[in-house]
Amino acid sequence: MPFPPRIHLDEAELGAVTGLIKRCMAGEATLDRYHGTQVDEFEREFAEYYSARYATGVSSGTGAVHAALAALDLDPGSEIVSSPITDAGAVMPILLQQCIPVFADAEPETLNMDPESLRERITPRTRAVICAHFAGQPCDMDPIMEIAQEHGLIVIEDCSQAHDAIYRGRKAGSIGHIAVFSLMADKHITAGGQAGMLITNDGDYYWKAKQFADRGKSLNSSEQRNIILGLNYRMTELDAVIGRCQLKKLPEFVARRRTYVDQVHEHIADLESVRPYRVIEGAESSWWFGLLRVDEERLTVSKRQFWQAVREEGVPCGDSYNAIIADEPVIRERRTFGRSGLPWTRDPHSAEPSEPQLPGARRALDTHIAFRVHESLTEIEARDFGAALAKVEAEYLK
Ligand SMILES: Cc1ncc(COP(=O)(O)O)c(C=O)c1O
Repeated sequence: MPFPPRIHLDEAELGAVTGLIKRCMAGEATLDRYHGTQVDEFEREFAEYYSARYATGVSSGTGAVHAALAALDLDPGSEIVSSPITDAGAVMPILLQQCIPVFADAEPETLNMDPESLRERITPRTRAVICAHFAGQPCDMDPIMEIAQEHGLIVIEDCSQAHDAIYRGRKAGSIGHIAVFSLMADKHITAGGQAGMLITNDGDYYWKAKQFADRGKSLNSSEQRNIILGLNYRMTELDAVIGRCQLKKLPEFVARRRTYVDQVHEHIADLESVRPYRVIEGAESSWWFGLLRVDEERLTVSKRQFWQAVREEGVPCGDSYNAIIADEPVIRERRTFGRSGLPWTRDPHSAEPSEPQLPGARRALDTHIAFRVHESLTEIEARDFGAALAKVEAEYLK
């Protein structure tokens, strides 16, 4: 049987969208957040969900990262330590703010930022850390916050892949100084297909982020001046009506993702070459996608060939999440602002580009395989997935 498609929209979103359009047709609502109520309500509900004092809706996760960095009002040349395995949307804004991304290494078993590597990357120019909670699992936030506090760094939690994940009893996103979320269509929940959210307890960061995402407009005073540099990253009312429906479904969606992954783990318990990937003590992943650790030593084929054979059994799965951003041409070849090499070349002592030293991240990607997880998958697919893995393992086990 083919694996079922993901269906996460229903009559609720349909009714919300048509309701909004009907209200617009009657002149009672707008699609832009100005003079609307939906984005305001969505922000309020989102903040409440994560127990944050403030939330501001934006047009993408990338925009949320950008607004978070802009809120810090950093001098050009400031260094921001980033997770090595993350999305380009979490790194481009660093460069656009004329700051320098510095990549910490990953823990090979979780693929998340290694706190010890974070410590090693800190220099007198380091100002902030962006830690991506990869694939649904929170980073080890206690040591990260401790190191940040020691060095006076601001921590931005990137929860784009980890909505509703838990770290030692707290929701991921409620631990650092600012948290950002992507609400694009493939994430745990969406708002209109593309959108993002930023949350914080700090009023200054909140207002600066909000102003930045609306062309630097004052917003918190009657003054309609452009008081800081900014872009237009405004969320629309259409995004927000969908987002509000999706937020109500989030606990159920995440519960179904967890159940599915538990079922997959049960079905692979007897395998010799494949095992669940490591979730750290006290963390509960919300499984944006699943990861399995493959022991190539036990196989007569490479991880890639093994996974290709599983895919040929009809299981939707990838080789790995191949995203060491430091390897991308934009970073490696410094393809930023014309031929200037900025922001790296601001510092006359800046080193030439060199091979990124990320052995943990490379080992992590070499030893794991990714599989699709969503709320429409059931025990049947978990069993079929387990059976496909068992069949392929039987063929290639040493
Ligand atoms: C960790 C992380 N940060 C940021 C982003 C960017 O989000 P968006 O695609 O909504 O701009 C993504 C997108 O996948 C992501 O995974």
